[in-house]
Amino acid sequence: MSNTMTVKSSKHAYKVRFEEDFSIALKDHVREGDVITVDANVLKLYKRQLDPVLADTRYVVIEPSEPQKSYQGVEPFIRHLIESGFRKNNRLIAVGGGITQDVTAFTASIMFRGVDWLFYPTTLLAQCDSCIGSKTSINFGKYKNQIGGFYPPVEIVIDLHFLETLSSLDFRSGMGEMLHYYLVSGEEDFERMSREYDAAFTDKTVLRELIYHSLDFKRGFVERDEFDQGPRNVFNYGHSFGHAIETLTGYAVPHGIAVSIGMDMANYLSVKLGLLAPETRDRMRPLLRKNWGDTRLSGIALEDFINALKKDKKAVGAEIRVILTRGLGQMFKAPLPVNEETVGWLAEYFNAFEKSSGDKIT
Ligand SMILES: NC(=O)c1ccc[n+]([C@@H]2O[C@H](COP(=O)([O-])OP(=O)(O)OC[C@H]3O[C@@H](n4cnc5c(N)ncnc54)[C@H](O)[C@@H]3O)[C@@H](O)[C@H]2O)c1
Ligand SMILES: [Zn+2]
Repeated sequence: MSNTMTVKSSKHAYKVRFEEDFSIALKDHVREGDVITVDANVLKLYKRQLDPVLADTRYVVIEPSEPQKSYQGVEPFIRHLIESGFRKNNRLIAVGGGITQDVTAFTASIMFRGVDWLFYPTTLLAQCDSCIGSKTSINFGKYKNQIGGFYPPVEIVIDLHFLETLSSLDFRSGMGEMLHYYLVSGEEDFERMSREYDAAFTDKTVLRELIYHSLDFKRGFVERDEFDQGPRNVFNYGHSFGHAIETLTGYAVPHGIAVSIGMDMANYLSVKLGLLAPETRDRMRPLLRKNWGDTRLSGIALEDFINALKKDKKAVGAEIRVILTRGLGQMFKAPLPVNEETVGWLAEYFNAFEKSSGDKIT
């Protein structure tokens, strides 16, 4: 299997490299004046490997919390860059997960009308998904990922060793994000993921191939539709519902776990709307369910969930646009009216979810 991948973008083509020891690549990358942005937990866990690089490089520690991904959160960072003499030809080098990525990429895109940035993703979610695709999003108050643009890094280095220290919840979050690519891809990839899911937790070779394939599949869509105007929309499968779950649990349910439930919800509504055969939903559910594990939705009030979906409390009889499905590989964007019937279906879903949560997970 290849160790590299090149992604074309409107700005520049960029390379993803799989490396065995990130610290060698990082030492090699850093130029005078560059600033490393490093996740606070990664800094503690990888001190031994990072110290030799950080000893003579400026760095900023990023607290991995959603409020950090906001205007208020990036302000001290920008102030530090300006006051410490950061220049247009210097680069930002992010070492961390999706939050460190979004903070760094967003800042890189607006500093001096754009400076180069590089990325060392350290979570499974960032390695299998977010590192490519150019999106840079920060939150606006409680509204997630509402502000940002498209601004790809100049290079990405993936070291799977980072994943050894990831919590099991964050690992499953990454698996959930990866699952959504394998379901959107279709029958063959769904079967592959069903076969290899368990091994991905213990076998690095299996995991590496799954990550590579996930990125490669996403790459095809990103190159055709970098700005998310059409074909790439299908990757929002599970995401509208997932975002509502994340927000309403104060991010206690991580992104990829929420998306796993969100995909099952999208399937459920697709069945109710007569689009999807119930048996097809039942084929996908065990894998999704295994991934969300013992996650509960009991803290979420249906009314709050509907409002979060609509993003506006006053929008009566609103229509939301979600990704529905006719089967594996057959996801599509469609308007969903928020009326008595659909709200009733969601109520049923929530009830059934809590009832079935005690069942043995198969
Ligand atoms: N820009 C995009 O295209 C894009 C795509 C998907 C998600 N996102 C965003 O990414 C964020 C989620 O990303 P994430 O799941 O990587 O979360 P994250 O960056 O919050 O990291 C999750 C947790 O893992 C810790 N961590 C990171 N690397 C570690 C390691 N190697 N060992 C141990 N702990 C480690 C972090 O400190 C944090 O506590 C969300 O804000 C989401 O909106 C962005
Ligand atoms: Zn996602």
